[in-house]
Amino acid sequence: MKTLDVIVHAISPAGTTGTSRSYELRAAAGSTLPPFEAGAHIDVHPGPSLVRPYSLCNSPQDKGRYLICVRHDDAGRGGSRALRRDLTAGGRLRISPPRNHSPLVAAERHVPFAGGIGITPPLSMAEALAARGASFVPHHYTSSAAEAPPLERLRTSAFAERTVIHHSDQGDSVRAGLPAELLVPEADTAVHVCGPDGFMPHVVTEATAAGRQPGQLHTERFAPAAPPAAGDEVATESTVRIASTGIGHPVPADRTIADVLTAHGVEVELSCEQGICGACPTPVPDGEPDHRDEVQTPDERAAGDRITICCSRARTPELLLGL
Ligand code: FES
Repeated sequence: MKTLDVIVHAISPAGTTGTSRSYELRAAAGSTLPPFEAGAHIDVHPGPSLVRPYSLCNSPQDKGRYLICVRHDDAGRGGSRALRRDLTAGGRLRISPPRNHSPLVAAERHVPFAGGIGITPPLSMAEALAARGASFVPHHYTSSAAEAPPLERLRTSAFAERTVIHHSDQGDSVRAGLPAELLVPEADTAVHVCGPDGFMPHVVTEATAAGRQPGQLHTERFAPAAPPAAGDEVATESTVRIASTGIGHPVPADRTIADVLTAHGVEVELSCEQGICGACPTPVPDGEPDHRDEVQTPDERAAGDRITICCSRARTPELLLGL
């Protein structure tokens, strides 16, 4: 897996509650940072065997630096804890080049629509849309003004006047009602939704009920959706066979394909390990995947020729993997 070393140029609080921080990453001397498109994320390696994806939230025009905003989560899987504990300004950090499975789509009008720390991809999108003079209206929902991580940046941005900020402690939440941009289904409008569980399904359900077509709603999750209901799971035990070697590895019901492959020394690319970052889709020349990720589109799922090995399983007794 290709990685690069960057310098942690600055760490600053984002919001006033102390729960989120911005990390500004710059190229180490003698190197450059690969360019990125709005919606991209990088894999951050905060410690040995620890890889976590974080969205880039600065402008893609902003050459020479990457900005990520991380919400501290004591009950999380350790990524934000390790960053907070071990990273200091001036230190080094290992990251992947940017990867993008949620790019801006072509549309007349855009609505970047975010809840909480989910503002990071829509923020980069808004920067890109502003730079190209596009028509767009960003919305950001937070529990309170203090909890709004990059609020200062929104308020001082080139698109501050058109940005609509909502605070639920003032009675303005998605449950109190969606704004007209989502409820009046204009043609050729792309809505980019990113936020926590609870926020996303509610927004998608309400906007769809109001007449928005699925192709107009583009979502990016920060956490996996609920697992399939009991009885919906199929073929929980299977064998994955490596196309290049012909070797088969049984995958028991309580382990992931990625687990089994790494235990046998097969090199695979992993990051979130939750089916939400797009690091691990692997070709499937034969067999039928049981998709459980959030990154493949309905068309990609239907094609069935790639599987996210961190979470998806097999519908057939054997899957051939193009490794
Ligand atoms: S590791 Fe992120 S989708 Fe599989």
